[in-house]
Amino acid sequence: MRSLLLAITLLARTSTAQSNREPPSTGLHSLFVSTGKLYFGTATETNNFDDATYQNILSNPLEFGQQTPENSQKWGLIQPNPGGFTFNASDQVASLSESYGHVLRCHTLTWHSQLPPFVSSTAWTPDTLRQLITTHITSVISHFSSSCYAWDVVNEALNENGTFRNSVFFDVLGEEYISLSFKVASEVAPPETKLYYNDFNLETAPAKQTAAVDLVKSLQARGVRIDGVGLQAHFTVGQTPSVESLITTLRRFTDLGVDVAWTELDVSHEDVENASELAVEQQAKDYVAAVRACVEVDRCVGVTVWQFTDKYSWVPGTFPGKGGACLWTEDYQRKPAYWAVKGFLEGWVARKNATETLVGGNGTTVRTVAGGRGALTGVISGSERLMGSLINVQLVSFGVLLVLNMM
Ligand code: G3I
Repeated sequence: MRSLLLAITLLARTSTAQSNREPPSTGLHSLFVSTGKLYFGTATETNNFDDATYQNILSNPLEFGQQTPENSQKWGLIQPNPGGFTFNASDQVASLSESYGHVLRCHTLTWHSQLPPFVSSTAWTPDTLRQLITTHITSVISHFSSSCYAWDVVNEALNENGTFRNSVFFDVLGEEYISLSFKVASEVAPPETKLYYNDFNLETAPAKQTAAVDLVKSLQARGVRIDGVGLQAHFTVGQTPSVESLITTLRRFTDLGVDVAWTELDVSHEDVENASELAVEQQAKDYVAAVRACVEVDRCVGVTVWQFTDKYSWVPGTFPGKGGACLWTEDYQRKPAYWAVKGFLEGWVARKNATETLVGGNGTTVRTVAGGRGALTGVISGSERLMGSLINVQLVSFGVLLVLNMM
């Protein structure tokens, strides 16, 4: 037993030494990928193109690996007039994303908002509206083809009380517009494209969350393909759900066999001008809770922040007085929330590496379960199991302290 303790101690120390020697060559995306996720990304738009500082950060492969066009793929911008498709701006975002080697999440096809007048004010019959939706989705998905990793096929179809939102689509077709949108998307999109339902407040409004779960089930029951649910995660400092609650929410969807992602994460101060030190710390905790929940849920594929700098955040324009919601300030300083997320991911990756080191040979395996910050609990089996021991290993932060409890 002593030799086992010594071996684990040495391995943990080796891992600690390696972590400490690592040059500061990591960022949000590189660390997130190291936890097993696909991307850490951001909303972008063509109005950011001439901003050299913005582009320097966006193009840093350590920080970002994914983009979502914030506006340019929305109906009002992409088909402002009947049959008049204008792909110019959205093509620019797609090209930029490709040139940076980023995953492109595409946003969005059927949404009640940002509709052109010809859609919102025509007196549609069910047949003419079906045709309109079909043409729009077919044209837009075909245009981008395999450039899009995922499409937000239907956006924000639900009210907070779980009922369907009134819109030109719902008022004429009822729920059918949702299944129609997914059916058309699944016929046109390359098979590898992920088809998402995307909404806000799924994390905080229980009736809305349940309605979204039911929506996924009802599409699946009818054989309509849906691959993922995007939870927008527009949070407010201090009102962000706990990490446990966020994990439970994500798992309600992944239990249905679909992927999940935080698709528009930001955490706003209620009163940004008077945000206290405490509020700044709380914002950091809230960001970490969201990122950690995704890390802990297997089918959570990635996190997209809805702009990474306050300079371009949508929040103050929509909610005067609110803001400061992003990871970088308006003048591109990294905020405490940035450092907290990065620190959390560094700790997670270091512990994962230590776990993998412990796995070693002879069929030894370690099972990692959720623990407190800096804690890792493993069950070591294989040759060591012969000793009939169940071992709890706790590595504090970067593995300085190793405690073994023999049971
Ligand atoms: O481009 C025009 C410009 O020509 C004009 O001078 C100016 C005057 O107000 O408006 C500009 O358009 C604005 C557009 O953003 C581009 O900046 C619109 O007014 C403004 O309403 C629009 O806001 C966008 C909002 O969606 C619209 O609903 C935000 O940028 C965008 O961040 C926000 O994103 C949504 C997601 O798509 C869905 N989930 C919620 C999220 C936040 O609302």
